[in-house]
Amino acid sequence: MRRYIARWGIAAVLGVVGGVALSAQAGPTDLPKVDAASADRGRTVWVAQCIDCHGSQARGTDKGPNLVRSVLVLHDRYGSELEPFLKKGHETQSGTPSASFTHDQVVDLANFLRQRIDDTLRGSPIFVVQNILTGDATRGAAYFNGAGGCASCHSPTGDFAGIAGRMSPVDIQQRMIFPSLGGRGRGRGRGRGAGPATTAATPEVTVAVTPPGGATVSGALVQMDDFTVTLRNASGDLQTFRRTPDMRVVKTDPLQAHHDLLDRITDQDMHDLVAYLETLK
Ligand code: HEC
Ligand code: HEC
Repeated sequence: MRRYIARWGIAAVLGVVGGVALSAQAGPTDLPKVDAASADRGRTVWVAQCIDCHGSQARGTDKGPNLVRSVLVLHDRYGSELEPFLKKGHETQSGTPSASFTHDQVVDLANFLRQRIDDTLRGSPIFVVQNILTGDATRGAAYFNGAGGCASCHSPTGDFAGIAGRMSPVDIQQRMIFPSLGGRGRGRGRGRGAGPATTAATPEVTVAVTPPGGATVSGALVQMDDFTVTLRNASGDLQTFRRTPDMRVVKTDPLQAHHDLLDRITDQDMHDLVAYLETLK
């Protein structure tokens, strides 16, 4: 546990010096502290520019996604992800270009969003610490190997051997729900080489693009929306495709199972799984 804290502690210090470089490795266990005054200022910007589409609690509307579950927002540290995202250009309610937001405004928005995430975690019964070790390890093992489908990607004698020695129960639970991919598309190219977390073995979101009548090109997903898709191909070059209706685009997210976890898993399953993983000393 101490080693774990030390690791994130160093990441946090470097994060300030190195700006965005470490955002990809900052995990959800390293939750940035919310500055309440900044979050209040952020709320004002939110109401003026974002609330119509993302909702009052940032949990989304039919016009914009839930940002409390957004990987970009979860990885954000004081604007490290949000700032480049808004600089690229994003819709706003007033029509003000999002690229014109000041750094302080972005930090305020980041604090406001982090506060929404913290509220969501606090409000959820699965995050009540004293509940965490009330699970049944035998049922957890059955769920892991059966209905939960965890065994198709994880193994108690492989990647999860000794996991209980590496992480506290709270960390296990949080990372189960908000796991992080070190080398996600958005972080690449900016922070590469700066942090020790990005290794060749890190799983990443990939995309395969097949233009009509053309050959399939695949690589790490960098950016995708309704109009274009950008990937980094095997030789490390960026390739952007303009999307057309007859173009086939297949995205593969190694964490898809986790994005679905919050919707599917019951509190009891969660407690049972943590109790089971706690036996893997
Ligand atoms: C007109 C509706 C609209 C407004 C206004 C709007 N958004 Fe969005 N936002 C969307 C939609 C749709 C998406 C998903 C597509 C995309 O990424 O552009 C999105 C995506 C995002 C994402 C990326 C989520 C992810 O995981 O990729 C962030 C962060 C975000 N918005 C923040 C903001 C902030 C901050 C504001 C206010 C400054 C704002 N948005 C204003 C509609 C909106
Ligand atoms: C489709 C594959 C897949 C499935 C299914 C899956 N996981 Fe994962 N899981 C991953 C990946 C990929 C990571 C990211 C770990 C990494 O970057 O090495 C991860 C991370 C985790 C972590 C954090 C580990 C760490 O070292 O930070 C936990 C805990 C976890 N998963 C538990 C589960 C449980 C419990 C289930 C079943 C309910 C499950 N996973 C199902 C692929 C999967």
